[in-house]
Amino acid sequence: MVVISLGGSIVAGEDMNVEYLRRFRRFMDEEEEKLFIVVGGGATARRYISMGREIGMDEYSLDDIGIEATRLNARLLITPKTYPKIPENIEEGIIASKSYKNVVMGGTEPGHTTDGVALLLAEKLGEKQIINMTSVGGIYDKDPRKYENAKIIPKMSYDEAKRFFLETNMDAGLNIPFDLLALKIAERSKIKIYVVGKDIENLRRVIKNENYKGSVIE
Ligand code: UTP
Repeated sequence: MVVISLGGSIVAGEDMNVEYLRRFRRFMDEEEEKLFIVVGGGATARRYISMGREIGMDEYSLDDIGIEATRLNARLLITPKTYPKIPENIEEGIIASKSYKNVVMGGTEPGHTTDGVALLLAEKLGEKQIINMTSVGGIYDKDPRKYENAKIIPKMSYDEAKRFFLETNMDAGLNIPFDLLALKIAERSKIKIYVVGKDIENLRRVIKNENYKGSVIE
């Protein structure tokens, strides 16, 4: 089984790229491997969370709103070969994956992100790697959207990733696409995190263990 954490901005970004969505859905049904895809909240989550924060909602409730957005995005990826419901939790997802080729889900409970969900899922399934698809497409030494000379870091240890995360988190241009909980789970169960962009051919190469463009935390 291949576990993918798919950034919300890739499925339903501001641009609402229907052609990409079609191609991704085709990939899901044509790919030989079973797929478990955890979808992020993207712009929808950010918009609703910031509205809620403005009116003084507590952070727990804002996380819950974020979860609704992830589940909404996930629905766009229900294909004919996919479990026709968004699982409420990891256990339901695992049960569904026994009878369906693909399962898509969003967040589960407040306090982490969908990257955390993808790693917990991989841990429970005994998978030794997850693929994180983000709009940035890798881990860079600085924000590649701001700096033209930003360089991709092909490989990082868990310790380096945690340090990098803590340092750059202070910065507005967050360039490590991970929450700390996700990193800790990856480390305790030795799960590799491949960080790649939206390119579907590149994704196929990671799945087949071929040369790919992106970064890995291991
Ligand atoms: P994302 O997984 O998209 O969060 O979930 P993110 O990493 O902050 O977003 P990107 O990748 O930078 O776009 C969106 C929000 O939903 C809530 C959190 O508030 C999160 O920020 N969430 C998600 C949870 O509380 N629990 C979950 O299991 C998943």
